[in-house]
Amino acid sequence: MLLSDTLATVGVLTVLWHLLRLLWSCWRGFSQYFISQFWQVDLRRYGQWAVVTGATSGIGKAYAIELARRGLDIILVSRSEEKLKTVAKEIEEIYGRKTCIIRADFTDGHSIYPKIAKALQELEIGILVNNVGITYSEHFAYFLETPNAHKKITNIINCNMLSVPQMSRLVLPFMVTRGRGLIVNISSETGVRSHPLLSLYSATKLFVTHFSHCLHAEYKSKGIIVQCVAPFMVSTNMTRHRPVSYITKSAQGFVSEALNTVGYSTYTSGCLSHALQSVVLTLLLPDWLRLSSFFIQQLRKTSDVNPRENERREIMGKEE
Ligand SMILES: NC(=O)c1ccc[n+]([C@@H]2O[C@H](COP(=O)([O-])OP(=O)(O)OC[C@H]3O[C@@H](n4cnc5c(N)ncnc54)[C@H](OP(=O)(O)O)[C@@H]3O)[C@@H](O)[C@H]2O)c1
Repeated sequence: MLLSDTLATVGVLTVLWHLLRLLWSCWRGFSQYFISQFWQVDLRRYGQWAVVTGATSGIGKAYAIELARRGLDIILVSRSEEKLKTVAKEIEEIYGRKTCIIRADFTDGHSIYPKIAKALQELEIGILVNNVGITYSEHFAYFLETPNAHKKITNIINCNMLSVPQMSRLVLPFMVTRGRGLIVNISSETGVRSHPLLSLYSATKLFVTHFSHCLHAEYKSKGIIVQCVAPFMVSTNMTRHRPVSYITKSAQGFVSEALNTVGYSTYTSGCLSHALQSVVLTLLLPDWLRLSSFFIQQLRKTSDVNPRENERREIMGKEE
């Protein structure tokens, strides 16, 4: 009798615990993706300027434009001077904000940071968006299929990983002195769990996710927020402009929702659609299946897109 009572109590407490956890997750999702549409943090409170890396197209450009729309002056960092000038002009003309451009190639490694530091030193940086990132293959591929692997491995590590702590190191001291600041690190769904056939990319994004969690824990008491954003599919050059749908977000649509989540969560999928996809993936594709040889072989087969689709993507890429 005593044993059955104890077991029943343990059972009830366990169910209650899981119910509470479910309720808490639902509330967090509700506040992050619904309430945030109506009440947003005034991003100007962090400082006058926002720095965005990889700011001339896709998600980075969308962050630059959305931050300008929300009242910040923008420092754009990217590779192509011509594209930098075009985006800067667009921001100045449409949103009336000041801009500053810094030409830098993040694949060059540590040598570029003194120049960036010099360009930033006079400006009150309130927000840093560590967005720049590259992939090394246009489709799901085995690690040994990496084209020009000798160079690509270093490039992707310099661009996707090194840039994040290096850029953070440049702006963080001044944020700490002022007691406020926001660092947004763009990770990826592939940086949440291991993704075979995207192994190096996935690993670089895991780095971004973990670095963000740790940095936030270290500096939240100093008034700094470090937010990690982990999108699924966004229609950009990187994804060869997949058609926008409920699953694939446009860069502008994604960033507008993602910026609303600032102050609500330090880890986010960025938008409701991607958060739901993350839940579905967790339920339908557990680690044992995703990491199995059978699944990897099936996934590899899906990479062979038809020639017409390839042609369409080429044209979209050129238009951008
Ligand atoms: N698109 C997605 O579905 C998706 C999903 C999850 C995560 N992400 C992440 O989101 C971030 C942005 O991706 P995206 O899709 O917007 O990419 P994108 O459209 O290819 O844009 C990349 C941006 O980075 C710049 N860039 C590229 N290589 C650079 C380099 N070596 N040095 C300096 N700037 C460089 C490009 O500028 P230039 O043209 O001047 O080189 C461009 O402004 C990446 O970190 C990516 O991993 C994307």
